[in-house]
Amino acid sequence: MEHVPVLAREAVHWMGGLNKPAVVIDATVGAGGHSSLFLEHLPVSSLLAVDADFDMLERARQRLASGAPTVSFHNMWFDEFFAQYDGFADRIFFDLGVSMYHLGLPEGGFSIKSDGALDMRLDRHRGNKTAADLVNTRSEREIADAIFAFGEERLSRRISRAIVNRRTKRPFETTGDLAGVVASVVTRGRDRSVRVRRHPATRTFQALRIWVNDELERIRRALPLAAQRLAVGGRLGVISFHSLEDRIVKQTFRALSTHDPSLPMVDVREAAHFRLLTKKPITPLDDEVRENRASRSAKLRVVERIGGEE
Ligand SMILES: C[S@@+](CC[C@H](N)C(=O)[O-])C[C@H]1O[C@@H](n2cnc3c(N)ncnc32)[C@H](O)[C@@H]1O
Repeated sequence: MEHVPVLAREAVHWMGGLNKPAVVIDATVGAGGHSSLFLEHLPVSSLLAVDADFDMLERARQRLASGAPTVSFHNMWFDEFFAQYDGFADRIFFDLGVSMYHLGLPEGGFSIKSDGALDMRLDRHRGNKTAADLVNTRSEREIADAIFAFGEERLSRRISRAIVNRRTKRPFETTGDLAGVVASVVTRGRDRSVRVRRHPATRTFQALRIWVNDELERIRRALPLAAQRLAVGGRLGVISFHSLEDRIVKQTFRALSTHDPSLPMVDVREAAHFRLLTKKPITPLDDEVRENRASRSAKLRVVERIGGEE
């Protein structure tokens, strides 16, 4: 499955506006779709490409290696990357979540549609806990809380009970296995008059993926660190795909651009050195949504560093 970069024109526009060679960090390089556009359209002096998934980084390497400026590849979580990066960048870009390759790969264990091992780790080579480990060992309460918090699924308790009942007979091994159990609960629990186009296990799968990879905490930690690594005039752009991600982006950007002390994730000394460039998030035009349904919930927000010490 080809990954089509989302909000491509808009990302190039908002990451543009450069009048000198720029250091660009793509914190979620994926297959290199956005990065190849940045190399083509922006005056990039060096590009740092980050991805937690080793296989994705290899794809990006094949696609970007011939790019004229220095491109370096970093197989790291983005929060870990920004915790150790001590340079300054002119453009930092995040395109959150997983790519179409992940969703199409049975062995990644992300896909509801193609059956594969129930894994969902972006850093499969490192041996952290898989989605199967979590659903087979965590308490009914923990599983319900995660499905509710990370999937906003109102049937979380019923789904969790069905998971625990089923695992006492046989542990979960495959995505198909789990999708079947979840679908049986959700289809029963839903109002049938409502036509739902999504697979009934979509919310549960999203929740498990976020849980396995600690996605929201990583975003919460990475964004303020990334903002601190912007040179004056530098921009940080983030594309999010669901309300849980977008809420963190919106709050962090508000904290960066105001003195609001109720928003604690940004050091007060850092605040007000930033200006919010997108008062409203940038969303895809109808033609993009028609051509790529995966873009329909995308939102791009951008802040710019206007002062402070470098
Ligand atoms: C939506 S895809 C990016 C696609 C890319 N912009 C393109 O056009 O090809 C997101 C990528 O970010 C990676 N990713 C997600 N969360 C991450 C994290 N916390 N740290 C590092 N990489 C992450 C995923 O492995 C995936 O390859």
